[in-house]
Amino acid sequence: MTKSHEQTSAGETTDSVESGDVHAEQFGVKRIREAYRRGMYNGETPDFPVSYEELRESAFEQMSESAKAYVHGGAGTEETFERNKDFSRWRIVPRMLRGVADRDLSVDVLGTEHEYPLMVTPLGVQTLLHEEGETATARACEELNVPFVLSSLSSTPLEEVAGTLGETPKWFQFYWSSDREVAASFLDRAEATDYDAIVVTVDAPTLGWRERLLERGYYPFLEGEGMANYFSDPAFRASLDAPPEEDTQAAVDHFLEVFGDASLTWDDLEFVFDRTDLPVVIKGVLHPEDAKTAVKYGADGVQVSTHGGRQVDGSISAVEALPEVADAVGDRAVVLFDSGIRRGEDAFKAMGLGADAVMIGRPFAYGLAHSGEAGVRNVLENTLSQFDLTMGLAGIDEAKSIDSKAIRDEQTL
Ligand code: FNR
Repeated sequence: MTKSHEQTSAGETTDSVESGDVHAEQFGVKRIREAYRRGMYNGETPDFPVSYEELRESAFEQMSESAKAYVHGGAGTEETFERNKDFSRWRIVPRMLRGVADRDLSVDVLGTEHEYPLMVTPLGVQTLLHEEGETATARACEELNVPFVLSSLSSTPLEEVAGTLGETPKWFQFYWSSDREVAASFLDRAEATDYDAIVVTVDAPTLGWRERLLERGYYPFLEGEGMANYFSDPAFRASLDAPPEEDTQAAVDHFLEVFGDASLTWDDLEFVFDRTDLPVVIKGVLHPEDAKTAVKYGADGVQVSTHGGRQVDGSISAVEALPEVADAVGDRAVVLFDSGIRRGEDAFKAMGLGADAVMIGRPFAYGLAHSGEAGVRNVLENTLSQFDLTMGLAGIDEAKSIDSKAIRDEQTL
């Protein structure tokens, strides 16, 4: 049940999102009705853009040129970034008259029931988008009970974000540090503050060639942005001659020395499994053999992702990779998906192609830039509404049961 759910004395619900078996059928329909009533009776149009494309344009008006370059940018020509969004090869095949009044959006992920199949993907340096950064995003997630994945490169320390999220499922995205003390400390801190899983991002052994950032000579970390977890980390601080508050430049230089490690191999994953008792998800898997290897090494989940087209330009898109990876993994691990989710229909298709749950990235980032916590909440509510309606219109009443039968591949039509 969402935290903000309240009943008035007249017995009407006052929040705009309802959940659980009893109210699930209201989710998407209620949002539509509200919009039409406000328009027809009050002459009001939504003050939040409905389409992703308009949202992005509107968010750009609030964003600095540097922030736009950082968030918008894919690698190279942005071919993969653009193709990620193209789910058109897969078509939903709706079924009729299947009794879809009570729709249940919940899914099982890593042994926990999530109220919705949508999660918020790890996205660094959220203060570039809004002064409240991750705190605003976490508040919106907490209100709706949408799981949040915090980036290692956040602008807010992981302990503070955990406090904001309360009982909402929370995962910590782990970037390798060549300093094992720091790496171990990150994992320990996440476990001590009740994160539910560790997401190990493996698709960033080196930096990607991001032309928008190179053209501007802009890299936010050199300004000490996105360093909150490092600057607050006891092991990181212990390796500095002066605390980051006194000598930020030296702290940034040290971060650049220890961030990432291109020499890593699958065997190095043992370090993570040994160090934490939390479930581990490997993020950035595109090849079925890598997915099998991840599972063989003990991963509890694999996340199909191109990092939003920010790493290998010209790579296979995430949705193209998904069916084979899901097939390779089978029931042995959870399959997560990101890169290209813009609307609820995309989420539905990804689940039909084998994802157990999906993560949303740039849309929530633009919601955050547009209007902080309210903006993120609007994006999540809109996306979940579209997902709910798509499910109902496709003749499916349980998100868990979306499978390949609901989808046709253009190539087989
Ligand atoms: C990211 N992504 C990312 N991934 C990660 O594991 N750690 C991180 O710190 C970040 N940071 C980050 C910043 C920005 C601005 C973007 C756009 C992306 C990748 C992210 O988790 C996810 O894979 C993509 O956002 C998915 O692509 P779309 O759907 O946003 O295009």
